[in-house]
Amino acid sequence: MKKPSSTLINEPTTKPNPDEPVVYLNGEYLALSQAHISVLDRGFTFGDGVYEVIPAYSKNLFRLQHHLQRLDASLTAVKIKNPLSAKQWQQSIEQLIDINAYNDQSIYLQVTRGVAPRDHRFPHQKNPTVFMMTSPQEKPAAEISITGISAITLNDNRWKNCHIKTISLLANVLLRQEALDKGAEEAILLSDGYATEGAASNLFIVQNDCLITPPKSPLLLPGITRDLIVEIAQQQKFCLKEQTISETDLLNAQEIWVTSSTKEIAPVTKLNDKIISNGKPGPHWHKMMQAYQSYKHKLRTH
Ligand SMILES: Cc1ncc(COP(=O)(O)O)c(C=O)c1O
Repeated sequence: MKKPSSTLINEPTTKPNPDEPVVYLNGEYLALSQAHISVLDRGFTFGDGVYEVIPAYSKNLFRLQHHLQRLDASLTAVKIKNPLSAKQWQQSIEQLIDINAYNDQSIYLQVTRGVAPRDHRFPHQKNPTVFMMTSPQEKPAAEISITGISAITLNDNRWKNCHIKTISLLANVLLRQEALDKGAEEAILLSDGYATEGAASNLFIVQNDCLITPPKSPLLLPGITRDLIVEIAQQQKFCLKEQTISETDLLNAQEIWVTSSTKEIAPVTKLNDKIISNGKPGPHWHKMMQAYQSYKHKLRTH
């Protein structure tokens, strides 16, 4: 890996833009406008790659080792050799966070099978493309904690390997857009009568004052936020069950939450046309949110 320094950030050919983020591409740190890949990259032609989104609070990475383990699992599942060791990932990501200005950042990283003539079979030469960028990690909108968000149920028409964090997200994109077009924030996906997860989030419900989330399986992405919520629930002795959620369970839930690194824990207060938990985030959400924020606070100040 090339060590980043100002000399590695290409001289901009146009007027320099102090707001332009610096990105990482195959070992180099470059101004965003200077980072280019071939149109024959298999990420472009086949969506042949995997990704991670990692938040950093006050420049401290949120559950880095969990994200790197999931990245490794995704790479193994799609048969791409991990191009960097855990230590190299950590150094490169930390360097990128340092170079970029924001205290709270969302790091997007992706690894594709690299550049090769377009052919379904794997290329002989293994040369994965590694790209990373960061953007400001926005706080979820304050009104969400007052009004919650709305969601609709949609048929989960994705492939059967949803545990792999692949960049081939067309099905998720279409589902999320359908929800947005129908005036909802998120789609909660139903597979054979069971709710699996959101189009870009995991799912929790509260039923009889007990927190329920579907067990990990190829039907859903093993979310890092999901895991932290499970951990907090166990530490704080909340009633928690990892079990399937039927459509009826979902529709009759006391509370519904969708979770992700960017959404954190979003309370769903309207599902299809039904008002959930009197249209306000419920008491279990408030309790979990407090614990979640305190975890973030410790991370910021550690
Ligand atoms: C389909 C899907 N499920 C779950 C999640 C939540 O994962 P995490 O908590 O790691 O952000 C995401 C995040 O993007 C997602 O796309």
